[in-house]
Amino acid sequence: MNDKLKIAVIGSGGREHAIIRKLKNCERVLSITAIPGNGGIKEDVPCVDIEAGDVFAVTQYCKDAKIDYVVVTPDDPLALGMVDALAAAGIQSFGPVKAAAKLESSKIFAKNLMKKYNIPTADYHVFTESSGAIKYARECFTSGKKALVVKADGLALGKGVTVCFSLKDTEAALHAAMDEKQFGASGEKVVIEEYLTGPEVSVLTFCDGRVIVPMLSGMDHKRARDNDEGPNTGGMGCIAPNPFYTPEIAEICMKTIFIPTVEAARKEAAPFKGCLYFGLMLTESGPKVIEYNCRFGDPETQTILPLLETDLLSIMLACSDGSLKADMVRFKNEASACIVAASEGYPASYRTGCHISGIEAARSVDNVEVYCAGVKQENGALISSGGRVLCVSASAPSLEQALQKAYRGIEAINFENKYFRTDIGRQALRS
Ligand code: AMP
Ligand code: GLY
Repeated sequence: MNDKLKIAVIGSGGREHAIIRKLKNCERVLSITAIPGNGGIKEDVPCVDIEAGDVFAVTQYCKDAKIDYVVVTPDDPLALGMVDALAAAGIQSFGPVKAAAKLESSKIFAKNLMKKYNIPTADYHVFTESSGAIKYARECFTSGKKALVVKADGLALGKGVTVCFSLKDTEAALHAAMDEKQFGASGEKVVIEEYLTGPEVSVLTFCDGRVIVPMLSGMDHKRARDNDEGPNTGGMGCIAPNPFYTPEIAEICMKTIFIPTVEAARKEAAPFKGCLYFGLMLTESGPKVIEYNCRFGDPETQTILPLLETDLLSIMLACSDGSLKADMVRFKNEASACIVAASEGYPASYRTGCHISGIEAARSVDNVEVYCAGVKQENGALISSGGRVLCVSASAPSLEQALQKAYRGIEAINFENKYFRTDIGRQALRS
């Protein structure tokens, strides 16, 4: 048997571009195909134009093309059972089966699991009708609560969470989700959560169903504008490691959150194999889970993977076949920063179709990488086609140096309506 593998990576974002650029250097890779990829990814590997969420078509393609191993990255195909479908077709993949992906695809499932296994998280109530939810919210604000968090049960393109600082805002969020069906069936049931405060940390981990190995911690910047103003986005930049996530806190998280979650998933759903992402808040009463994601984060992946020293494909294969060991995962003892260049107006309305230049100039700086997201090719030119267009990642011995390089890289890139936050990493530097 050929020891080298034909790989397919499912997805079309900057995260997938970072995974592909890392996999390209792995020993056992014979070829990589992106499904569907994007215009920037196409400069690295062939792209096949099948929608990431089309489980049937992707599985059929992988069978026909004799793909050996599939990296399923986005939440939708995971929730739809792409890993299960590929397994039924005899193809191994990186990612959880549908039952384990429920940790992300149902907030109610995740919250109930945390409660049952005493995994620290915000207090919560589940509602299936807006009248009951509004009655509860009124009681909370009357009794002096300052804020509540409304979460749609299902996947909602990252928009299903609303932090509400008044009864009026809470009512509006509940009506939109439950009565007006803003998120379709995903919002028919909601969780109302206690509002927590503290620094946020993203911890992505590799998991083989039993063994869980954390990657470097990260700090995402979710709001659109500087000083954490503006609406929530998919993420406008990230730094790693996160200075708030000390070794002591990491040890607490391993004992009280990571290991119990893996055990709970195995007992309540299915062994979790893949990347399990913990969105944590470091509250005064200890670290608590804000959310689980069953996949690599974006832009965390573009920030963290450049520092991975060991072989990504070997780690992924070990996750899939249950042979993961802690020493397979080793990172450079450096800092990394990633700045997202978006189209002005994102996440609401924004222009697309703008010509992009300067990517090679940015990449010419040592340890600077450019990963494309909302980018397509037209007559050989790169054109913006989405809200988050691309990101620039840089690593260096210190966070300050990494940030300087990443900002130099983003300045080298040009497209009309380019917008980026100018304060990525500022809170981390101040700490
Ligand atoms: P998510 O879409 O689940 O990533 O949540 C978006 C953001 O909402 C998180 O990054 C937090 O900043 C905020 N958030 C979610 N849950 C809570 C909570 N219980 N208390 C305070 N903020 C929260
Ligand atoms: N950066 C947040 C996420 O990937 O969900």
